[in-house]
Amino acid sequence: MRTFRRLLGFLRPYRRPLIFSLLLAWAAMGMTVGIPLLLGAAVDAIEGQRRDDILPLVGALLGAGILRLALTVGRRLIAGRVSLDVEYDLRQAFYEHLQRLELGFFDTQQTGQLMSRATVDLQSIRFFLGYGLIWVSQSFLTIAFAAAVMFVIDPFLAALALAPVPFLIWTATRYSRRNRPAEQEVQQRVGEVTASAEESVSGIRIVKAFAREGFMMNRFRGAVDRVFDQSMITTRLQAFYTPFMGFLPNIGIAVVLLVGGRQVVNGSISLGDFTAFYALLIMLSGPVRWLGMSLSMAQRAVASGNRLFEILDREPSMQSPPGAPSLPAGGGRVEIRNVTLRYNGNEPSLTGIDLDVEPGRTVALVGPTASGKTSLVGLLARLYDPSEGSVLVDGADIRDVDLASLRSEIAFVADDSFLFSDTVAGNIAYAHPHATQEQIELAARRAQAEGFIHELPDGYETVVGERGLTLSGGQRQRVAIARALLAAPRILILDDATSSVDAHTETEIKRGLREAMEGRTTFIVAHRLSTISLADEIVVLDHGEIVDRGTHEELLERCTLYSEIAEKGLEDSVYLQRDLEEREELARL
Ligand SMILES: Nc1ncnc2c1ncn2[C@@H]1O[C@H](COP(=O)(O)OP(=O)(O)OP(=O)(O)O)[C@@H](O)[C@H]1O
Ligand SMILES: [Mg+2]
Repeated sequence: MRTFRRLLGFLRPYRRPLIFSLLLAWAAMGMTVGIPLLLGAAVDAIEGQRRDDILPLVGALLGAGILRLALTVGRRLIAGRVSLDVEYDLRQAFYEHLQRLELGFFDTQQTGQLMSRATVDLQSIRFFLGYGLIWVSQSFLTIAFAAAVMFVIDPFLAALALAPVPFLIWTATRYSRRNRPAEQEVQQRVGEVTASAEESVSGIRIVKAFAREGFMMNRFRGAVDRVFDQSMITTRLQAFYTPFMGFLPNIGIAVVLLVGGRQVVNGSISLGDFTAFYALLIMLSGPVRWLGMSLSMAQRAVASGNRLFEILDREPSMQSPPGAPSLPAGGGRVEIRNVTLRYNGNEPSLTGIDLDVEPGRTVALVGPTASGKTSLVGLLARLYDPSEGSVLVDGADIRDVDLASLRSEIAFVADDSFLFSDTVAGNIAYAHPHATQEQIELAARRAQAEGFIHELPDGYETVVGERGLTLSGGQRQRVAIARALLAAPRILILDDATSSVDAHTETEIKRGLREAMEGRTTFIVAHRLSTISLADEIVVLDHGEIVDRGTHEELLERCTLYSEIAEKGLEDSVYLQRDLEEREELARL
């Protein structure tokens, strides 16, 4: 009931068109009830052999029919618009809310479930709020109004005819009580189907590569079967209850035929009144059936509403405090104070991290896989909040500053280099949509992306497919690096950003990066010594802890873990040597 009331709240902005369409619906209902009365009058005229009265009555009958038609068309147009408006609002609100939720939320959600809420569930809500609600009120009113008219014609007969009504109400209540949980389960399972479909489409490369189409199809069929079974439950309920409710007025009709027919023979009511009565009852079975249908619609909407509110009610747990100041000016000093990070209350992925980085310095993070490198740099952009301790940028605790201002000063090249379905230029200028072509090209040049971009069919205007899958891994990485460089951030984070490019290209990128890193604090996560050599300082992580920090030479001497890593990357160290020579050369100049 609470969900129901909240759903009604979405109609508030559309009160006026809603009232208008209700008025139209009621007027149409007046016609509906009026038609049997005219019919009764016509029968009386026929019986009384009043030939001249027949034509005007038939005219009135036809007029009422046409008027009802016009009213219904108008009502449907208005209600249809309201229903689309509500859908529009809900969809916006839902999407806006999703964007505000923190990253941690998405770790625990299936994309498909979210998608089905944004589509299937929204639809069922919009149908109910736009049409179902009006049907309910119209049906109720038609029944009430027809009952009143029947009482005016003949109270005794009316009482008899309406005797099944309490039974009808009882049936309807019972129906909704049984059907509501069933509908909730249907919507949940529809979400599972969407999730399953989404996964097999976005993982299609792996599916194909491992020839697991059959397996995926079976898994999908399983999900579809579950929807089917559950939908059959609601269908069975509906199949029984809706016609049953439609049948109940028939009992009234039988009673009226029996009792009323005798009264006509006795002459205590006219044949016309009897006909009107009879037609009213026949006409009632329509609204009663509608009522049953709108009931299941309402239940579906409430079930969907519950699923929607489940997300909408989840407060974003990562927000800047109201009126938070922007990140203070500075060169990008980073202080990490005694930080521990637990994802969703799990075992800590980082423990007791203390790290100070002077503005403009370049730090390489080195460590075995799952040692917490990505987790550490993620903290800087406040993708997650530390469970303990704090992160300061230019002296301000990043939890106290405006989140957007913090993130606009940090550029992140993640290890999966996600690209949007957009042009190459659009992807590079993602953070700065107003960047000039020169800026875009400079960033691309520094990221060593210019060469291959020129070879693309439309150069910078080439549209890359979803997630950039039409580009190679190394090409994608370079576009992602260009995107970060264009953002001209205070802090640059390169998380395994050059893992997919060949050693030669990497050296070239490094040259561009060195220019771009000038005056920015840079964090580089890398496995190759050639990339590590860009750093002023190397931080070695293991099992979520900093085990040592220093220069390449210092660490080689005293840190066994580092020497091991360095040894494994031995073939790479030629580059390191060359870099050292270059450095020495530069220093001599
Ligand atoms: N979003 C997350 N939710 C839960 N646990 C996570 C999440 N991200 C990382 N972890 C866990 O935190 C630990 C550190 O992971 P992290 O990604 O920081 O390692 P990494 O050093 O970057 O490794 P790699 O070199 O393989 O990229 C791992 O045990 C991982 O399972
Ligand atoms: Mg990582």
